[in-house]
Amino acid sequence: MPSSQSATLRVSDQQPTDSEVADEVLGSLAETPPRLPSKYFYDEHGSKLFDQICELPEYYLTRTELAIMQADASQMAQHIGPRAALVEFGSGSSLKTRLLLEALEDPVACVLIDISAEHLFAVTEELASDFPHIEFIPVAGDFTQPLDLPEPSRPARRRVVYFPGSTIGNFARGDAAGLLNSMRRIAGADGGALVGVDRVKDTAVLEAAYNDAAGVTAQFNRNILVHLNRVLNGDFNPEAFEHRAPWVSEASRIEMHLVSKKDQCVNLAGERLSFPKDQVVLTEFSHKYTVEAFAELAAESGLGVARVWSDPAEYFSVLYLEPA
Ligand code: TRP
Repeated sequence: MPSSQSATLRVSDQQPTDSEVADEVLGSLAETPPRLPSKYFYDEHGSKLFDQICELPEYYLTRTELAIMQADASQMAQHIGPRAALVEFGSGSSLKTRLLLEALEDPVACVLIDISAEHLFAVTEELASDFPHIEFIPVAGDFTQPLDLPEPSRPARRRVVYFPGSTIGNFARGDAAGLLNSMRRIAGADGGALVGVDRVKDTAVLEAAYNDAAGVTAQFNRNILVHLNRVLNGDFNPEAFEHRAPWVSEASRIEMHLVSKKDQCVNLAGERLSFPKDQVVLTEFSHKYTVEAFAELAAESGLGVARVWSDPAEYFSVLYLEPA
């Protein structure tokens, strides 16, 4: 095993200590406006709620991207060509990855990068048993940090980064540019990146996707408080915060807010914090792009948009980016 791979595996198995989590969370809450790091949505219950979100009638993203993959994966595969190595940012557990792997001609390898080592190894085993001719290489690590990626045993014709789910929209513009930069470095001169991007659309459609009638997204948003109560010995009353998800057109994003319903004090990690009535706590951004705006962002990172696949309503697009 190359040393870079074992180094990567080691780094990611480090869990932050309780006091590091406390510093991070208290630091974010001390910002103006106060924020909570969105990774704390995803405890066990949060992951289940997110799976429910993906099935909601209002949450068009998951099913629309899946439909694009079903319709166009063969064209994507044709554009990519034979003997590619796929590098997925995220776990690769999804049906979308499978559709792409099935469509590709003789893919040599699939490198899966995920922060959660346990989840990653489970997913890798499943994929390896379903696709016995493809070499699956799990890398437990943070794809927002520079990583040394392992080489597949069989040489690949090109490397293609796959980043589905419009997760790029959850990053601030500068961080998204940084991610695109690292995709370009991984892809090299003949590679590329296949990125799922949620499009700017009617405000009512966008706001409903993040504020569903059944209240699942509201529960998901408040679950961050439940999770932090547990890990930081806190006493947030989740019902004392209102879920809001406004479209902020100047920033071209949905903002996830938890709004304090009253003047209240909360104990967290040994500190006493006060939340005045109507105080907004930011929990997540979900940026939406026009193809032009995304092309501009990609260009800043030395990537050009080579192909665009969309659903008929143009709610969502899968973009193939190549070094410009
Ligand atoms: N990546 C998803 C998105 O931006 C995450 C998401 C969906 C989300 N619904 C949410 C995050 C509600 C916070 C709250 O679409």
